[in-house]
Amino acid sequence: MPKWLIDAVFYEIYPQSFYDTNGDGIGDIPGIIEKLDYIKDLGCNALWINPCYDSPFKDAGYDVRDYKKVASRYGTNEDLYELFRVAHQKGIHVLIDLVPGHTSEEHEWFRESCKPEKNEYSDRYIWTDFWIKGTPGHPYIGGECDRNGTYMLNFFKCQPALNYGFFNPTESWQTSYKDPAAIATQDAMIDVMRFWLDRGCDGFRVDMADSLVKDDDKDKTGTCSIWQRIRKMLDTDYPEAALVAEWSNPWQAIASAGFHMDFYLDHGGNGYNTLLRDYETPGGDNSFFKKNANGDIGRFLKDFLPRYEISRGKGYVSFITCNHDTPRATNTLDESELKLAYATLLTLPGVPFIYYGDEIGMKYIADMPTKEGGYTRTGTRTPMQWSEGPNKGFSDASPDMLYLPVDANGPSVESESARPDSLYNTVKTLLKLKNANEDLKADADFKVILGIPGHPFVYQRGSMTIAVNPETRPATLDITGLIRGKSDQISQAGSPDKIVFSVGDPSFNAGKLELPAQSFAILL
Ligand code: GLC
Repeated sequence: MPKWLIDAVFYEIYPQSFYDTNGDGIGDIPGIIEKLDYIKDLGCNALWINPCYDSPFKDAGYDVRDYKKVASRYGTNEDLYELFRVAHQKGIHVLIDLVPGHTSEEHEWFRESCKPEKNEYSDRYIWTDFWIKGTPGHPYIGGECDRNGTYMLNFFKCQPALNYGFFNPTESWQTSYKDPAAIATQDAMIDVMRFWLDRGCDGFRVDMADSLVKDDDKDKTGTCSIWQRIRKMLDTDYPEAALVAEWSNPWQAIASAGFHMDFYLDHGGNGYNTLLRDYETPGGDNSFFKKNANGDIGRFLKDFLPRYEISRGKGYVSFITCNHDTPRATNTLDESELKLAYATLLTLPGVPFIYYGDEIGMKYIADMPTKEGGYTRTGTRTPMQWSEGPNKGFSDASPDMLYLPVDANGPSVESESARPDSLYNTVKTLLKLKNANEDLKADADFKVILGIPGHPFVYQRGSMTIAVNPETRPATLDITGLIRGKSDQISQAGSPDKIVFSVGDPSFNAGKLELPAQSFAILL
């Protein structure tokens, strides 16, 4: 387990929208380097950068044309190596995106694979043996090249699935995940990982990590065995390199595949969604942090606690404020709701990820026309708002050249850092406390003290007691009584006597915590 994860707080950067230094309207790697001090000052000490490789950008770079080459619109490979170097100097670790399940249809491997003549790459992708064939449950494409077969897709039409084999082949053209052709694909991906690790990256966020072996069994045994092999390689040769999975299933990703972290994603109706994205439930938004939603934290705990238990000692659940695929939480939560939400996400166990711009409350732009296969995701991918200057300080280009239009009326780092009570300053103060306290590290002890509907949510991290009241009515809690009532171990750990962080003016006196409407307190 990489030691640095224990106090990592990640910042996700969508490179095209972060900071443009060469005036072409698109963010770039030198721009990320320039903003490392901002990220550090916010309190983050790790980055995840979305794909920045050569690509036709039909899926914003998740359609990789060359795994080992930085896209020219972002700079050069040397710029990325320099980013690793400068980030390390500042104590920041850098994960880049690994897209192992598919390439772009313009990748050299795929061009070769399309040829009717047998060659080294004929089995690098999943091909049927006839021009009009397929199997149920998977999309296949035919008619694009001279090879007599159709090929399987992993996501969009532009993203043919790499061949990691089938768990249980049923057709003559299907091969096992243990077949040499499938192992050759694994080896090619390991080669890509080594390439970047040798040049200074600290690991990978793994795209669609569960998608490798086709028609895998319910435990994803085949796919997990591949990741186990990769984990062994890392443990031996790169023990400080970290992997975070886009999987959202720690039973598989952490306990079985060997990932160090697994994202807790906004999958319909799961515990994470009930906290801040519960707008699909009939009868309106019942997100826990929403005022007057009579939020029931039990829905979250029922789903989260088993995830936490299975990950403990093996890896970490990663909460996200948002990501490049998800509507920003500003879509439904206002500033006071967001403060409570982020304060909670950043103090629960595990390794959290903040999506760029969430710290200043950037808006989700619902009606943004699609860009590079973004569709409804595009509204979450607009340029970072740095200042109140032209293009909100994102770029010197003329506005019509920008990757996406800036949200001209939205907040900026300039406006939010000047407001003492802003979401930005709240996050910054909290991260300062988190970074200075063992009790708020990824694996520090965690216990639920109070988790029932209609009451504040109260939990313990080490010797800290944390309480959040999302309701519009005030609440009074007998903290000492609550703690004694639940667990002897906790009552020994801490008998709090002061508030060390707060939102919304709570007070603590003689063991009684007064939580006004929409408030949050950390007691020590
Ligand atoms: C993941 C990425 C998403 C991308 C897809 C295909 O879900 O997060 O942005 O479109 O995989 O690679």
